[in-house]
Amino acid sequence: MSEKQTSGRGQRELRVRVKTAKGRKLSSTLWLERQLNDPYVIRAKKEGYRGRAAYKILELDDKYGFLKPGARVVDLGCAPGGWCQVAVARVNALGQNPKKPVGTVLGVDLQEVEAISGAEIHQLDFLADDADAKVKGWLGGRADVVMSDMAAAASGHKATDHLRIVALVEAALAFAFDVLEDDGTFVAKVLAGGAEQQMQTMLKKNFKKVANVKPPASRADSSEKFVVAMGFRGRQVEGGEGQGDAADDPDAGPLG
Ligand SMILES: C[S@@+](CC[C@H](N)C(=O)[O-])C[C@H]1O[C@@H](n2cnc3c(N)ncnc32)[C@H](O)[C@@H]1O
Repeated sequence: MSEKQTSGRGQRELRVRVKTAKGRKLSSTLWLERQLNDPYVIRAKKEGYRGRAAYKILELDDKYGFLKPGARVVDLGCAPGGWCQVAVARVNALGQNPKKPVGTVLGVDLQEVEAISGAEIHQLDFLADDADAKVKGWLGGRADVVMSDMAAAASGHKATDHLRIVALVEAALAFAFDVLEDDGTFVAKVLAGGAEQQMQTMLKKNFKKVANVKPPASRADSSEKFVVAMGFRGRQVEGGEGQGDAADDPDAGPLG
């Protein structure tokens, strides 16, 4: 590994170069180089977050303010735990602010997750038949926020990856419809591609506001975007016409 200093606009910036190594593929070398130079990766390390993904939920919450003290949060696809870390702090799950209500954070993932103080975490395939019932049991009541960053390992085939992520988002949404408190929030990662039009229609019928956003921390070359649906109307709407004031975020583009 060698370090090269480049200057830009009066600022000195340190760029890490990774030399190709025997046995390492070029794609791995480029990935490593990107990781080492990614400002969000560097910041995550410095600020104690488990991954750069933490900044996506931080940015989304800064904009929409759904992680309030006292909120009960379900985090689907939570490994390695960045979103949980953010949620624990923002909902006051550790009661660090004695003047504010204490929230809860429940995370699940296919992978094992190292314990996070203030969060309850379970290893689970959320697409398994009994997953909903299990998570509902752990939750033991309603949730104010259901958020999903679930993503299947990339197959390299765009259409397949898109369908997989749609299946994960649909499962998350079905769960959200089941457990969300009135006025609750659903946040989920989606991929641009078009197959989620139906989901958008459903969201607009069941939530007062639906925003489609790409937070700055989401890599520009990734087709991921996030849907933030706020103001859950409750379980009464199953189909038929929408109820009016759903609005797309004017700052964000369509999901594709
Ligand atoms: C981008 S990562 C999540 C990062 C996380 N938000 C964070 O801040 O650390 C996507 C996660 O979705 C999980 N995942 C994919 N399919 C899943 C499934 N069927 N059930 C549960 N988790 C799943 C993966 O194991 C992976 O950890």
